[in-house]
Amino acid sequence: MIRKFTIGNPIPTDSVVKEIPAAEGSIPYFSINDEGKELSLALEKNDKIFGLGETVRGMNKRGWLYISNNSDDPNHTENKNSLYASQNFFVVFSGDRQFGVYVDTPGKVSFDIGYTKLDKLTVSFEDFDADIYIVDGESVLDIVGQFRQIIGRSYIPPKWAFGFGQSRWSYMTADEVREVADKYQEAGIPLDMIYLDIDYMERYKDFTIDESVFPKFPEFVEEMRKRGIHLVPIIDAGVKIEEGYDVYEEGVEKGYFVKKENGENLVAAVWPGKVHFPDFLNDEARAWFGNKYKVLLDQGIDGFWNDMNEPAIFYTQDHLEEVFDQIEDYKGKNLDVKSFFAFKDLVGSIDNYPEDYRRFYHEYKGRKIRHDKVHNLFGYNMTRAAGEAFERLSPDKRILMFSRSSYIGMHRYGGIWHGDNHSWWSHLLLNIQQMPAVNMCGFLYTGADIGGFGSDTTEDLLLRWTAFGIFTPLFRNHSAMYTRRQELYLYENVPVFRNFVRLRYALIPYLYSEFMKAALNDRMLFKPLCFEYNDDRSACVEDQLLLGESIMLAPVYTQNAEGRYVYLPEDMKLVRFRAFDDYDEEVMSAGDHYVRARLDEILVFVRKGHVLPLAKPEKGMDAVDASDISFICCDAEPESYELYTDDGESRI
Ligand code: GLC
Repeated sequence: MIRKFTIGNPIPTDSVVKEIPAAEGSIPYFSINDEGKELSLALEKNDKIFGLGETVRGMNKRGWLYISNNSDDPNHTENKNSLYASQNFFVVFSGDRQFGVYVDTPGKVSFDIGYTKLDKLTVSFEDFDADIYIVDGESVLDIVGQFRQIIGRSYIPPKWAFGFGQSRWSYMTADEVREVADKYQEAGIPLDMIYLDIDYMERYKDFTIDESVFPKFPEFVEEMRKRGIHLVPIIDAGVKIEEGYDVYEEGVEKGYFVKKENGENLVAAVWPGKVHFPDFLNDEARAWFGNKYKVLLDQGIDGFWNDMNEPAIFYTQDHLEEVFDQIEDYKGKNLDVKSFFAFKDLVGSIDNYPEDYRRFYHEYKGRKIRHDKVHNLFGYNMTRAAGEAFERLSPDKRILMFSRSSYIGMHRYGGIWHGDNHSWWSHLLLNIQQMPAVNMCGFLYTGADIGGFGSDTTEDLLLRWTAFGIFTPLFRNHSAMYTRRQELYLYENVPVFRNFVRLRYALIPYLYSEFMKAALNDRMLFKPLCFEYNDDRSACVEDQLLLGESIMLAPVYTQNAEGRYVYLPEDMKLVRFRAFDDYDEEVMSAGDHYVRARLDEILVFVRKGHVLPLAKPEKGMDAVDASDISFICCDAEPESYELYTDDGESRI
């Protein structure tokens, strides 16, 4: 049962697609504080809080302050409050009670979950306008399922997007891309996608190609397709200000860019230097920007990633001028401690400067609205622009799309990647812990930058991260400029990487079937153990996951480990894979076990009464044959597993 309560006069977000009548009475479970600015809930000792999507810290969100305020912050350390996403759904549960809460409001929202007081959960938001949905159900999974039904079906990518993808900021020329493809081929590591980061564009202008380094682009796209590789270009939120650039000129002429109070287009800066931001919240501007993807679709492109759409702002022209003016005051002076730090703060906080988000306005649903009031909808609507356009421009075939910034509702138009992580062991754990939380909020096609985006990776981290990444729907190795290169063929253990990536392809019939079942039935793909097992121990396991109906994962995420402790809530069959056709099996009893997992081994636990199908991996997705399948069973018959098959590309 879902009840909707409206506080104040909320700005609609279009995240809920099902009509829910307003409920009578006051919001259950919560009280509204005296100033009428906060909702609070007394937490019981055993209450656990799961959800909130892409946030820092563990699976159980108790003990921190999370702020939904989409932020371009690449340092995802545990002291941070905000990441790139706002996914305001969570479930409270204990042995005695369970309910879900969705706080639907497009501005900043704070979730103080046992931060100020251990046993208190407080939700606050600036204008105190929101739709609050309370979901009651028989179990956590039932609550999540009901919630997912009202927000609409999750985005389904083409099947090839479940292959392995290699990315780098940036492959600078077509020849460099060819070399990556060649090296993967020589190494015998399957590869389905190569990502084009910003340098494929002419001066970072969206929907352009730098012909000097990517000549005859359509032919190049075709050449790579013949080799089984899809090229996936990035699209950024900012449109370069440049005379003669059609997107800029049309946007100015039609008034499609966000404007300041005085009606002038906001001038901000991102990769291209000075840019205007399209007003993705304005229906007409959204349709206009969406149609621009046609430029690349017409050249044979069938997948994209949308970036910098919080939006990230390096600086705005106005703020930069303010800073320059203030710097004048410091010039030639002997800076004392106070003025030195003030000066340092001034210069160091130019990018993503909070005041800048109050300098511009949207035309949203017939109203002029200041950006900060709808901030968390910006990336969502950029991806919606693409998703809605793809329905028009590619009515039959699915197009790959994922975004950095998100809000619930965007899950209908694309997936997400988990932003600019680092090559840190803690970020491998964060990747593991975020998977179920984003699934709860409808995001199924997701994955983190494998190996880590920022900082230099190490071979052992890359091995362990790839060993986990083979299970995530988006399976992409990506790294930043100036960091150590991360292409798998560059490392000593090429045979191990080959075995891991091939195992991914062997798992495709299972992963695709489970993904499709989850998408079509509003279910989760990754679950914490306690969503299915009621014992007290399962409730505290933060580093194991159920994936689909048949398997449990226990990834190794610490350096120099040769194995790990694994908790089995029931008897399961351990399958210790070295390759898809080289593994040992052992039925293990419920309880705690230390399980060996060397750097070349991947642990999979097949649940009792379940079956894991395995295909024979060939070169790429085109070659995975769903008819030639073997089965690993734990007290079950192979026929009991229901494979999902389709042509992998028609829209559903
Ligand atoms: C942003 C993206 C990253 C990309 C870089 C350059 O930091 O998150 O993935 O490589 O921009 O485009």
